[in-house]
Amino acid sequence: MTNKYMYFIANWKMYGGLNSLNSLNKVIKFSKSREIKKGRLIYCPPYTLLNSFFTKFKNCLIDIGAQNCHQNYEYGPHTGYINPRMLKNIGANYVIIGHSENRTNGETDKLINKKIKSALRSKLKVIFCIGETLAEKKNKKTKSVLLKQIKFGLNKINNNSNLFIAYEPVWSIGTGRIPSIKELEQTIRFIKNKFKKKIPKILYGGSVNPRNIKDLKTIKDLDGFLIGGASQNPKKFIDIVKKTYN
Ligand code: 13P
Repeated sequence: MTNKYMYFIANWKMYGGLNSLNSLNKVIKFSKSREIKKGRLIYCPPYTLLNSFFTKFKNCLIDIGAQNCHQNYEYGPHTGYINPRMLKNIGANYVIIGHSENRTNGETDKLINKKIKSALRSKLKVIFCIGETLAEKKNKKTKSVLLKQIKFGLNKINNNSNLFIAYEPVWSIGTGRIPSIKELEQTIRFIKNKFKKKIPKILYGGSVNPRNIKDLKTIKDLDGFLIGGASQNPKKFIDIVKKTYN
């Protein structure tokens, strides 16, 4: 059983509409029970649902975040984009940056670095995603890939208080496969050791589900989980949280 303050972050990706709001009732009820001993639930729905989720969570302690943002702190002529200040303005407290699904779409370390700086300046907490592909893993490049992503993604960022690093091996996302616990422990330790001053909070993401959480929760250095598919099912999401504490 863990006694640690844990973060459970639901990444809904490009799923969900207004009809998904009812599915949150169970989670709201659960969040008000005493079963979450120490910890926080955070939902990152698509932009279109942020305001509805914010309203829905008005009387409970569930927080909201976005799945990405534009790199500019200033407002400007950028059709179709949303800057971090706009997110803060509508009640979001978190933003996911550097998700591998966006890196695949062309986000570079440099752009990610700009986004992180701008989001931190907007007083958002940043969930910065890093992770290696299967080919990189097979070629024993995991450490060098993570190192590069951290070095350039966090270039000239000195205050880690509002920073989370989500280690999400790309090959584990949506596949049902996760690294071995020993492997994960080593990688998480490796990430932590790269920080000389304040260590950011560290999350794991990639196929987290109610079955594998029993093993994942034994990793002492973790501060929580970034959950994709399973987070859209309230029963599974609640189960993951419950099992982390039991
Ligand atoms: P899955 O939990 O669906 O593997 O997704 C993980 C993820 O990408 C969270 O950001």
